Amino acid sequence: MSWQQRIEQALDERQQSAAYRRRQVNQGGNGRHIQLNGECYLNFSGNDYLGLSQDARVIAAWQQGAQQYGVGSGGSGHVTGFSTAHQKLEQQLAEWLGYPRALLFISGYAANQALLAALMQAEDRILADRLSHASLLEAAAHSPAQLRRFRHNQPQALADLLAKSCDGQMLAVTEGVFSMDGDSAPLAELHRLTRTAGAWLMVDDAHGIGVHGDQGRGSCWQQGVRPELLVVTFGKAFGLSGAAVLCDEATAEYLLQFARHLIYSTAMPPAQACALQAALHCIQQGDELRARLQDNIQRFRQGAAQLSLTLTESVTAIQPLLVGDNQRALDLAQRLREQGLWVSAIRPPTVPPGGARLRITLTAAHQPQDIDRLLEVLHDVSI
Ligand SMILES: Cc1ncc(COP(=O)(O)O)c(C=O)c1O
Repeated sequence: MSWQQRIEQALDERQQSAAYRRRQVNQGGNGRHIQLNGECYLNFSGNDYLGLSQDARVIAAWQQGAQQYGVGSGGSGHVTGFSTAHQKLEQQLAEWLGYPRALLFISGYAANQALLAALMQAEDRILADRLSHASLLEAAAHSPAQLRRFRHNQPQALADLLAKSCDGQMLAVTEGVFSMDGDSAPLAELHRLTRTAGAWLMVDDAHGIGVHGDQGRGSCWQQGVRPELLVVTFGKAFGLSGAAVLCDEATAEYLLQFARHLIYSTAMPPAQACALQAALHCIQQGDELRARLQDNIQRFRQGAAQLSLTLTESVTAIQPLLVGDNQRALDLAQRLREQGLWVSAIRPPTVPPGGARLRITLTAAHQPQDIDRLLEVLHDVSI
C-alpha cells in the first residue's frame, strides 16, 4: 500500500465511523462565551474551570513578564532558558503542594511522557487505571516496562496486579479527576496499596488542581495523600498551559539528567512563568471562585435530576452525558449549537468504543442563567 493509499484509507475509516475530527477556529470570547463561525455561543466545552484565562491580574503579569524578559525563553532550561521567573514558580509550587521539588514542563503531555520514559526500565511494570489519559497510556505503551491496566477506580483490581511478582519496580498510575468521566480516584486506598507493595504511585491531577482541596491544592491534598509523583497541569484551572512534576529531591535531580523533554526542548517563556505565578496566587485566594463553580455544578445536577437526564456520578466540573453512539453524539452537539450552546461530542478513541458522550464542562465564569439555559435546551433536545 502506498503512502497515499494508507493515509486515505485511515481517513475513510474515520469518516465512516463518525469519528473524523475537525478543528474549529475560535474567533475570541471570554471563557463564558465563545465565538465560532461568526456566531457567539455559551461555552460548555472548556477546561478553564475558574475563568483565569481571562483574569486581568494574570494578563497583567504576563505583560509585565514580557516587558522584563522578552517573549521567549531563548533555549532549553539546560542551556539559558531557566530564568528567575521559572525558578521562583518552581519554588512556590513545591512549597504550596508540600514537596521538596517541582520541575516545570512545557505541557502535561510532555511531563507524562518524560516521566515514564525517564523512570521505567525493561524489568519494571506500569499498572495504570484503564481510563487514564492518552498521554499516560501512550507513554506507558512506548516505555520498555510492561503495561498492565486495572479496572477503572477499582483498588482491588490494582491489589491483584501488585500481588504478582515483578523483577523490577512497579509504578501505579492514575488521575485525580478523570478527564472524560469527571469522577475522582480513590487515592488514599490506592496509595495504601502501593505503599504496602513497595511500589510508587503517580497521580496526574490535571483536572483537580486549583479546583479541589484547601486553597485548590488538588485531589491528593483533598484526600490526604502525597503520592511519590504528582503531575499538575496549567491548561485547566490555571487558565494557561504547561505543567509541573512534584517529587523528592533525588527524583528531581534524576529527571534533570534523564528527562529528554526537559533537556531537548525550549523552556516555556519566562513571561508565562510570571503569569503562572499570578494564576497560582489567584488560586490560593480563590475560595470565592471555587464556591461559584460548586454552585454551578450543583445547580446543573439538581436541574438534570429533575429532567431525569442520566448523569454519571461526577461531582466535579466535568459532567458528561453518556450517549453511546458516535453519530447521535454529533447530532446532539449540533442541535445544542443551533440553540447557541457549544458542547463537545467526545468519541472513540478518546473514550472507549460505544462511549461517545457530550462532555459538558462548567466553570466559575458561568452565570446561573447559563446553567438554566443549558438545562432548558437539553430538555428540548431530549437526551
Ligand atoms: C488527565 C490529563 N493529563 C494530561 C493532559 C495533557 O495536558 P496538556 O494539555 O498540558 O498537554 C490532559 C489534557 O489536556 C489531561 O486531561
